[in-house]
Amino acid sequence: MFKSFNTSPGRIAYANNMTTLMLLALLAADGELAFPKDYREWVYLSSGLGMTYGPAASMANNNPMWDNVFVKPESWKAFKETGTWPEGTTFVLEIRYATSQGSINKGGHYQTDVAAIEASQKRGGQWQYFGFGNGLSGIRPAASPLPAQAGCAACHSANGAVEWTFTQFYPAALAIAQAKGTVRATYQPPVPSPAALFHTVRDAGWSKAVDLLAAAKQKDPSAAIVQEATLNSVGYALQGANRTEDAIALFNYVTRQFPQSANAFDSLAEVLEAAGRKPEALEASRKVLALGSASEQLTKINRERVKRLGGE
Ligand code: HEC
Repeated sequence: MFKSFNTSPGRIAYANNMTTLMLLALLAADGELAFPKDYREWVYLSSGLGMTYGPAASMANNNPMWDNVFVKPESWKAFKETGTWPEGTTFVLEIRYATSQGSINKGGHYQTDVAAIEASQKRGGQWQYFGFGNGLSGIRPAASPLPAQAGCAACHSANGAVEWTFTQFYPAALAIAQAKGTVRATYQPPVPSPAALFHTVRDAGWSKAVDLLAAAKQKDPSAAIVQEATLNSVGYALQGANRTEDAIALFNYVTRQFPQSANAFDSLAEVLEAAGRKPEALEASRKVLALGSASEQLTKINRERVKRLGGE
């Protein structure tokens, strides 16, 4: 606003450029937003990798960029109570370049310089969008609401899960919105996480989890919860939570999904033995040895188990 234009020290420095000063005076008339310089002190919601779009996407080429989302602390405080974003809510989307191979890093990506900064603000019940420029030509001290042609509102209004915001990508905020019932009815959740699978088995039983796994496999065969290693760790977590029958059911499922896996039969044998189900444990251990693909260590463990259980 024009008032803050006169008082902000950053703006005074900027005002040395008279042309810009006149331009900013014009912008002030249509509800400009001052660049929130302290946004890094705000509440951090989440980051996305390679999710850029709009103006920054054209700079992205094949290199993914990071998006870091921040929201004003007072907006977050109200959101936690209601699951809706209050009037005046301001978000900053900070887009940073990704890199790798620096310092000790070999795989994966970490963040470097700012590539662009965008913002949104709820005013009079409407969401407005702002671009503060990019890391090449510099971040502007103020921005006007972008016109509809910029496309921001079209994508946000059609796809945001809570009002026009992408709360579905901010896990802590999403959990609040789900608890408060403020998520848009058409929102399609992703394949459940390993933690969600564990909770489903624990709270609703294995039969429910079977349906969940079938749906997950169909939707995204690369999802974590349909991978053998993930299922294996969920199985042991169930055993650790004294859900032995569920753990056995899960490991049985894993052996059906990965019938060539010596490790799957070994895990099954282990929980069956712990549950005192000796004949079945013996059968599973024999299967480990019969597969012929077991590591030296697994072979040794299962030879011992077969002996212990009275087999030869
Ligand atoms: C094609 C869809 C699409 C378009 C167009 C788009 N955005 Fe977004 N926007 C997203 C997604 C997806 C997110 C989730 C955060 C992420 O990218 O990690 C997001 C998040 C944001 C956020 C964080 C708050 C929120 O609403 O969730 C801001 C601020 C933002 N965008 C500003 C803009 C601006 C400004 C424009 C126009 C220049 C724009 N966006 C255009 C998809 C879009």
